[in-house]
Amino acid sequence: MLIAGCLIIFTAVFAAYGYYLNKRYQKKIDENVKIVQDVELQLVQMEKMASVGVLAAGIAHEVNNPLGFLISNLESLKDYARALAKIVPADNPKNKTILEDLNAISAESLEGALRIKKIVSDLRTFSKQSESAVNLVDINQILESTLSIVWNEIKFKIAVVKDYQAKTQVFADSTQLSQVFLNLLINASQAIPEKGTVTLSTSEDNDTVYIKVSDTGPGIAPEVLPKIFDPFFSTKKTGSGLGLSVSYNIIKSHKGQIKAESTLGKGTTFTISLPKKQDLEEK
Ligand SMILES: Nc1ncnc2c1ncn2[C@@H]1O[C@H](COP(=O)(O)OP(=O)(O)OP(=O)(O)O)[C@@H](O)[C@H]1O
Ligand SMILES: [Mg+2]
Repeated sequence: MLIAGCLIIFTAVFAAYGYYLNKRYQKKIDENVKIVQDVELQLVQMEKMASVGVLAAGIAHEVNNPLGFLISNLESLKDYARALAKIVPADNPKNKTILEDLNAISAESLEGALRIKKIVSDLRTFSKQSESAVNLVDINQILESTLSIVWNEIKFKIAVVKDYQAKTQVFADSTQLSQVFLNLLINASQAIPEKGTVTLSTSEDNDTVYIKVSDTGPGIAPEVLPKIFDPFFSTKKTGSGLGLSVSYNIIKSHKGQIKAESTLGKGTTFTISLPKKQDLEEK
């Protein structure tokens, strides 16, 4: 009887221990599978970046020179149109229409050319053609100065909440980081249709500084989320789809990571992690 009882208890303990081990190893396997999947995703992303980068560098180089004189000529044209409007008597309706059209056309053309200039400059950063200047920088300060650049445009619809906890400075190119923060802030503001909140927070642990940009916008659909860092992917009418891929490249060259999490109807959070100690890529 006693032996039977002991046997039952022993079997039960053994089964429970087996179950516990099984669960533990399953958890470990799941974690490892997740790591492999993450690395695979990063590799695919890097391959895409590399091939588009070569193309982008070529386009940016070819377009940059003619664009320079196009912008310069359009600026002169705009000034001449304004000067002409002062000289030519606008009493006859035909003259008036021509002068008004000339003003509008030259201003719109210049605006278009300046947009192309921004895209070319994004392409150059994307393909690492621009110079990089790495210094010890204060992330909170860069966030603040970037915010002040867009503040006038966003202040009427966005409430900004700040929670700056990071104290350690990191080696980084402040202009490039500012470009990343600008892209994230503009995206957040464009995503919020009427009024909403953008939360900027920084924190750190032993090895890493974290920067989070969260918005209360409509969020990103799960099927769209994997594509947002792809070059030229955009859901906007006038978007070039380069903002996030440029940002991805900049953060990658700082040996950091940028990730997006999003819930439809609630909002989106971008998290950037930058290592405190790093040997930046030769650029
Ligand atoms: N905060 C956000 N909320 C919702 N969707 C977003 C957000 N940020 C990015 N997206 C989605 O990711 C896409 C890619 O963003 P990205 O900044 O690369 O390009 P874009 O904003 O469309 O164009 P641009 O080159 O002018 O930045 C956007 O078109 C949008 O669909
Ligand atoms: Mg954008």
